[in-house]
Amino acid sequence: MIKPVRKAVFPVAGQGTRFLPATKAMPKEMLTVVDKPLIQYAVDEAREAGIEEFIFVTGRAKSAIEDHFDHSYELEQSLEDRGKDEILETIREIIPEAGQVSYTRQQKPLGLGHAVWCARYHIHDEPFAVLLADDLILAKPGCLKQMVDTYQEIGGNLVAVEDVPKDQTDRYGILDVVDDDGKLASAQGLVEKPKPADAPSTLSIIGRYILQPEVFEQLDRQEKGAGGEIQLTDAMAHTIGDVPFHGLRFEGDRYDCGSRLGFIEANLAFSLDREDMQAGVQEMLKKYS
Ligand code: UTP
Repeated sequence: MIKPVRKAVFPVAGQGTRFLPATKAMPKEMLTVVDKPLIQYAVDEAREAGIEEFIFVTGRAKSAIEDHFDHSYELEQSLEDRGKDEILETIREIIPEAGQVSYTRQQKPLGLGHAVWCARYHIHDEPFAVLLADDLILAKPGCLKQMVDTYQEIGGNLVAVEDVPKDQTDRYGILDVVDDDGKLASAQGLVEKPKPADAPSTLSIIGRYILQPEVFEQLDRQEKGAGGEIQLTDAMAHTIGDVPFHGLRFEGDRYDCGSRLGFIEANLAFSLDREDMQAGVQEMLKKYS
């Protein structure tokens, strides 16, 4: 029987060095695309996919994220007094139900695998999703919803994938593909950040995962991989054989908001996708073409 995915982990403890100085006192996941922080897009995407429990793995400067998902009584009162009901509703919608959110701390940024491992006592023995907020995805329905729909039919470990240019394989986890129908690819192995010459394919894992709890048995070993970090890709690779592994080519566009150019492009794409912004942005762009 395929167990439903009810919980999601949001690792937000990275150092965000590519985005300094913006990320000096603020987590990268609080960077804003149009008018929402990246982490809120990820939480909204998880909600749409049916997630009921949200587990944040935080590090430095965690309070901005905790505050964002909590009441701000002063602000709410002030908006109410001024009759700004619409924006008040927007602010209140952000807040999950009491008890739905929990926070755990990754004391040292030892890698994504380690960050996910820090959430193990919140997950116990059920499947769970992992969302990396800096991979922002414009998709309808959202990427995780597309994945959950597929997962409900095939189970196992399922990640979102896309083809990347051959010279960029050293930035991603790459699938060693055995079977590929153009939408779903099954893998016999995974390699983290291979050099282009060593990459088994160009199909790369992006920041959305549905994982079985068996991955924690591998992460328990605390084995360091590429870059001296405890890699989630390595732990997933070790479960292949026991747990089926698939990559889903989702429908939509992904923006790497951990990089400056990706972040700027995301702001353009998301503002052009909004009715209230589209005309203004198109007009503005004429100046730069
Ligand atoms: P990145 O690989 O983008 O690393 O992490 P980073 O530290 O955030 O950014 P750069 O490369 O220094 O600019 C991918 C995701 O994994 C989380 C990050 O917060 C991000 O969401 N992460 C990474 C952790 O939570 N802990 C870690 O030890 C590493």
